[in-house]
Amino acid sequence: MQGVKDYIQQHQDRFLSELFDLLRIPSVSANPDFSEDVFEAAAFIENKLIEAGATRVEICPTDGYPIVYGEKMIDPALPTVLVYGHYDVQPADPYELWHSPPFEPVVKDGKIYARGACDDKGQMYMHIKAFELMMQTNQLSCNVKFMIEGEEEVGSSNLATFVKQNKERLKADVVLISDTSMIANDTPSIDVGLRGLSYIEVEVTGPNRDLHSGVYGGAVANPINILAKMIASMHDENNHITIPGFYDKVVELTAAEREALNKAPFEIEDFKSDLGIADVWGEKGYNTIERTGIRPTLDVNGIWGGYTGEGSKTVLPSKAFAKISMRLVPNQSSDEITALFKAHFEKIAPAGVQVVVKPHHGGEPVVTPTDSPAYLAAAKAMQTTFGKDPIPTRGGGSIPIVALFEKELGLKSVLMGFGLDSDALHSPNEHYGIFNFLKGIETIPYFFHYFSQAKS
Ligand code: BES
Ligand code: MN
Ligand code: MN
Repeated sequence: MQGVKDYIQQHQDRFLSELFDLLRIPSVSANPDFSEDVFEAAAFIENKLIEAGATRVEICPTDGYPIVYGEKMIDPALPTVLVYGHYDVQPADPYELWHSPPFEPVVKDGKIYARGACDDKGQMYMHIKAFELMMQTNQLSCNVKFMIEGEEEVGSSNLATFVKQNKERLKADVVLISDTSMIANDTPSIDVGLRGLSYIEVEVTGPNRDLHSGVYGGAVANPINILAKMIASMHDENNHITIPGFYDKVVELTAAEREALNKAPFEIEDFKSDLGIADVWGEKGYNTIERTGIRPTLDVNGIWGGYTGEGSKTVLPSKAFAKISMRLVPNQSSDEITALFKAHFEKIAPAGVQVVVKPHHGGEPVVTPTDSPAYLAAAKAMQTTFGKDPIPTRGGGSIPIVALFEKELGLKSVLMGFGLDSDALHSPNEHYGIFNFLKGIETIPYFFHYFSQAKS
């Protein structure tokens, strides 16, 4: 391809300042206080798609936050790439742990610090700039459709409806997504699997009011004690999950597949020191790569109840709550696992308490092929710009809409991510390397180039 690097060099300051403008919009989808900002981020994307040369650009309203659509159809005979990304971000709390304000991007040591820098504003915006580059240098070699949503971090339920209602408009040959990580800046990789998710909130109620913990303590079930015990009982001494039927549909990898998975470079000491932990932890019989890539989990995300204010208050609480996530692997189904959890949780509750199990959003696990023309085009693109073949890896996170693209549109996705696991996604001080941002913009046009070659 011609002048890819030159174009990036000439325009990189503007690319970065535009990304900074987007990062300044606190588009937190989970918190209604930021509702106006989420709409503003959609309008920002709309403008940038128009400026870059997309047509039929539209802010498509939903029952929640809108989907920004745009396209450039150059020739019906050419393949079509559907680019998916999200403009919403996770809440920035706790703010006091940020070294600089989360919505005032700054560059430190070559990295952009801001909520959404990597997940997914920085990675999504690479696609809009790569599209601009291909348009400006007359090298767009596939049709392209953009679908950028604002509810990924809250489960994409309105996007699911949009996809079902817009099958014709979304017709394409492949979905291209940059919303995952690679192994290291000198070790490119492509995720070929994502875990699914069941997310559940539980409420445990004991006595009809908070009680004096001396007058009643010892004689009435304490819902926090009970909840803690119930949660603890859901892992056995080998850290296997004890919910009956939980593992029934889990696909075990063959010895050869496990060996291939473990070929990826991984430094356990770096992993521990990055997280400040003295040892790793997890299911017996599996190592760290396997525990995050191919095994399901059950984790408490938050737990509360009783008195948590200043000083002490001697109280036996009436209620206890927890939010629990289960990461799923093929062929577990989110609805089935949620139902198994509910039945088990209700069964193990002692008679002294009442429990309510409230399912939240979920999503199905996916595995994507490594021998498709699209995967091979992505691998060749990364080989061109990194000088190394990417390693296929399994990502531990979830992008629930990917399974739905397959089901509703019959489309496989290529997860060509440029982030790093150490970029602090969802954590304080999220960041994204300027190297990664520019490398993404450089690599995407090669994907289009090789994909159109493979398809013609
Ligand atoms: N981009 C992440 C998912 C991800 C990150 C996959 C890194 C692989 C590697 C996405 O924005 C995300 O955070 N998804 C949520 C799921 C959603 C339903 C809230 C998740 O995984 O918790
Ligand atoms: Mn994301
Ligand atoms: Mn996320």
